[in-house]
Amino acid sequence: MNPSEGLSANLSEDSPERPAASPSAPAPDAVSADPADGPAAAGIPDELRAASFERQRRLRQEPRFPGGPAIDPAGSHHERRIRSFQPRRSRVTPGQQDALLRLWPKWGLDIDGQRVLDLPELFDGLPAVLEIGFGMGEATAQMAAEDPGTGILAVDVHTPGQGNLLGLADRNGLTNIRVANGDAIILLREMLKPDSLDGLRVYFPDPWPKKRHHKRRLIQPEFLDLVAQRLKPGAVVHCATDWEPYAEQMLEVLTAHPLFENTRADGGYAPRPAFRPLTRFEGQGLDKGHVVHDLLFARC
Ligand SMILES: C[S@@+](CC[C@H](N)C(=O)[O-])C[C@H]1O[C@@H](n2cnc3c(N)ncnc32)[C@H](O)[C@@H]1O
Repeated sequence: MNPSEGLSANLSEDSPERPAASPSAPAPDAVSADPADGPAAAGIPDELRAASFERQRRLRQEPRFPGGPAIDPAGSHHERRIRSFQPRRSRVTPGQQDALLRLWPKWGLDIDGQRVLDLPELFDGLPAVLEIGFGMGEATAQMAAEDPGTGILAVDVHTPGQGNLLGLADRNGLTNIRVANGDAIILLREMLKPDSLDGLRVYFPDPWPKKRHHKRRLIQPEFLDLVAQRLKPGAVVHCATDWEPYAEQMLEVLTAHPLFENTRADGGYAPRPAFRPLTRFEGQGLDKGHVVHDLLFARC
């Protein structure tokens, strides 16, 4: 089976339920990115619901920051699919707004699913790793500063984080980060060439702890089929999580996948490599007493 087809099929039904707050995820936004997660779920009257949908429709159409990231670059009805991310608070600070306005045209790109990226051109010939879900971007900026010979294509849907990371890159003189806005699945499936990535980083993805939400977890077999197509042979998938059942799932599906091999001879979790800084969500998990697991698997 074509891995893209498999992923599409797997991601073709969305849950109408609002996800419960995950152990390491922030509270959902007051204005949801997904109507299915909106006021209907809270039992709000029809007219208020209609007004909210109208507001969301306008929000999707109007750029929030002129020349900045689009509200919904691939179009929310592009296809019905499961979102691995959840609605977030989206208050943008003046500093983040300034960074979005000044730097998005230079270092930002919308995931519209309409064009294929030329990674060597994007990063002036540097090897390119994809980081999915950089949050506020502090760890991304630190890794970029410590490894200027690697380009980081950092993707998230979270506007304040995009502004934050652009500002960090600017203040620290980092030229090896590009910030992508939208769903990483569409980026991987529609906008990256086969054998184009030198690595994938997924640090503390939303854990979706409830059983009925497990299908929204990013690391699953069909996702790995797609990732395997986009990675160069030898490139490493590096995941980390503080949610034990998700770590077990990651280990199981990565171990079972024929195109990935554990870099650990003992077939288990890896210690945190020195190049991965502590992340913001990791810190929150550690404060709650969670145990963190890293997994590093190479593309065969
Ligand atoms: C729990 S946060 C972790 C953030 C950061 N890595 C850290 O450790 O602090 C997960 C992030 O992944 C993003 N995310 C989840 N699924 C995504 C997807 N399919 N495409 C882009 N971003 C996604 C969410 O928006 C969120 O910012």
